[in-house]
Amino acid sequence: MNRSWWKESVVYQIYPRSFQDSNGDGIGDLPGITSRVGHLKTLGVDVVWLSPVYRSPNDDNGYDISDYRDIMAEFGTLADFDAMLAALHRHGIKLMMDLVVNHSSDEHAWFRQARASRDNPYHDYYIWRAPAEGGGPPNNWEAAFGGSAWEWNEATGEYYLHLFSKKQPDLNWENPHLRSEVYDLMHFWLGKGVDGFRMDVINMISKPYGPDGRLPDAPVVKAGFLQPCFGAVTNGPRLLEHLREMKREVLRHYDCITVGEAPCATTRQGMELTNEQGGALNMLFQFEHMELDSVPGHPWGKWGCKPFELRDLKASMTRWQDELVGRGWNSLYLSNHDQPRPVSRFGDDGAQRVVSAKMLATFLHGLQGTPYVYQGEELGMTNFPFRGPEDLRDIESINFWREAVDGRGEDRAAVLDAIRRKGRDNARTPMQWDATPNAGFTSGTPWIAVNPNHAEINVAAEYDDPDSVFQHYRRLIALRRSQPALVYGRYRPILAEHPQIYAWLRTLYDDRLLVVCNFTASPAEFRLPDELDVVRWPLLIANYAVDPAQDLRCFALRPYEARIHRLQ
Ligand code: GLC
Ligand code: CA
Repeated sequence: MNRSWWKESVVYQIYPRSFQDSNGDGIGDLPGITSRVGHLKTLGVDVVWLSPVYRSPNDDNGYDISDYRDIMAEFGTLADFDAMLAALHRHGIKLMMDLVVNHSSDEHAWFRQARASRDNPYHDYYIWRAPAEGGGPPNNWEAAFGGSAWEWNEATGEYYLHLFSKKQPDLNWENPHLRSEVYDLMHFWLGKGVDGFRMDVINMISKPYGPDGRLPDAPVVKAGFLQPCFGAVTNGPRLLEHLREMKREVLRHYDCITVGEAPCATTRQGMELTNEQGGALNMLFQFEHMELDSVPGHPWGKWGCKPFELRDLKASMTRWQDELVGRGWNSLYLSNHDQPRPVSRFGDDGAQRVVSAKMLATFLHGLQGTPYVYQGEELGMTNFPFRGPEDLRDIESINFWREAVDGRGEDRAAVLDAIRRKGRDNARTPMQWDATPNAGFTSGTPWIAVNPNHAEINVAAEYDDPDSVFQHYRRLIALRRSQPALVYGRYRPILAEHPQIYAWLRTLYDDRLLVVCNFTASPAEFRLPDELDVVRWPLLIANYAVDPAQDLRCFALRPYEARIHRLQ
């Protein structure tokens, strides 16, 4: 076992726009974060991943960067940034920045020059193609936020590629000058003392150019539409080469933490990219478990919803655990700023909210990998009851509504239901600090509505309640710190076929831990497999009161019950 601090860490993600406003403009900001470092310390996390705070016109809330070396005016100044970093470091918390270099904003100085003329030296920083024969976009790719992935540029008479919105042109990683600009800006932030990067859609930087430089059509999965292209653009031919260069030029000069966001990644790619010898990154955010509640091939893409099956979750998690062990490293996450709230998605956000949120936490932190907690997850925050398009702020949901309802006349109720389940705004409603009208987030008008349930679900209430979701997260994080088997222990599933229970062992030398989770609202009978020879089973953590006299070898798990025992 190869020990590393980033394997032993728990990471907390902050979405700055929604965390804490300090000046009453309704928008979270850097001084707001600085004022809340105490919360992170109380929770016990080791690292903060901060979603982008760079200068940006906010077409995609900061994931469209117009200046990589400055701070968005709404969030503060570089001096505010330095003060925040110093406050985190003073409390022993590291800072991971978001690195968004698959694309920039169309308002970045590079793109302004690039689009002006084909002769401009910056032109080649982006990806340009002539119209298809007979006119129109060069291929059939659909952008992630709807419409064609190609936008016409009048001044040069070409299309440029944008896998996301048309204000997010893709950067051309074939160009060595562009690559060295990226490495320079990484040195700039690492030189300021930041501790690493979360790399936005990093497995899309190498595009699948054909021999003639063309970008081929994606396979047709929805007749009569543009085609989803993530399958075609992820894991391109030069991806590993580019990332190894980045490691050589930048990463290996610092003791830093890296995680690459990697849609469509397979375990094989996970192994390749996170292998400590030949790879380049510490870990990936893979997406398999985030797709278990989408209907494959649905014309609505991610919006075509179905209930998730525990069987699928077990199979997917087990595959990642087994295939990366000793060859790479996993990240563990159930939520972030792009995903609905886990308690609403995989648990019960009604009567069983508290136990089911604790069960999901126990599940995640009981696996092998580095756990991520997204702001509000530690409170068991829920999805938001959006009433209609006027409540939405996210470009992805707004564009889906426009295309589906306004464009194709699809059923409003069905579209709204999908957005309520899957919309990214669910994760972006303000952090719930207390029971006051704006949940302590702002003294002004928040940029997006506060969840009406903040009167009940909030930090202040959960600090005072020893049985809160927050206190469970706190105990879980402390437990992980005291139990090397939770970090490094080998994963071995048991009761693989059980329809309600997900259970496994974590073993390190002669230490054996058992994690048991009931993923349903009904009681479930647990039987320890006979070959596990045990006489004592001290309890390490649970989400219900447990009778110490109970025989662990066979007992009934209550709704969403979860525990970790040591087996002796
Ligand atoms: C990543 C980000 C997401 C953003 C997209 C484009 O998936 O997490 O929020 O919209 O990349 O940058
Ligand atoms: Ca503010």
